[in-house]
Amino acid sequence: MGEKNGGAGLDYIRSYPPEPSSLIPPLLQRTQERFGYLSREVLEEIANYLGIPLSRVYGVATFYAQFRFEPLGKYVVKVCHGTACHVNGAVSIAQALKEELGIDEGQTTKDGLVTLERVACLGCCSLAPVIMINEKVFGKLNPEKARKLIRKLREGKLDV
Ligand code: FES
Repeated sequence: MGEKNGGAGLDYIRSYPPEPSSLIPPLLQRTQERFGYLSREVLEEIANYLGIPLSRVYGVATFYAQFRFEPLGKYVVKVCHGTACHVNGAVSIAQALKEELGIDEGQTTKDGLVTLERVACLGCCSLAPVIMINEKVFGKLNPEKARKLIRKLREGKLDV
C-alpha cells in the first residue's frame, strides 16, 4: 500500500527499444536456460511469436557468443581465460585442448562426448591456469597435462 504502483522496479524495460528485436536476447536467454541450447525449431517458434523472420532471430542470436545452437556434450570442458590464467598460459592450454579434441572453443565433438567452452575467471586463480570439467576444477596445468586429462576422459578413467 505504501508504494505507488510498484512500477519503479520495472524501469529497466524503458532501456529496451520498443521493437520486437529488443525482446530477442532475454527470450533466447530464458530458452537456452531451459533447453540447454537453441534448436532451429525453438527459434522458429520465437520468430513466429514475435512476428519477425527467422533470419532476424538468427541474426541476433549469432551476435552473442553466449548462445549455443547444438546440445551440450556429456562433458563440458571450460577453459579459463581470466587474467591470472591468461598470464599463466591459458592460450597454450586452449590450443592443446582444441588439437586433442579436434574442435574449437564453443563446439562439441561429433560423438557428443565433449563441449569445449571459453569462460572468464573460474574463481580459483591461485591454481592458474585452470580448466573445469563438468563441476571439477583442474589447476596448475600445462598443455601436456591438459591433453592427458582429455585422453583419460575418453577412456572413462577420469572421475568428474
Ligand atoms: S583467472 Fe582463471 S581462475 Fe581466475
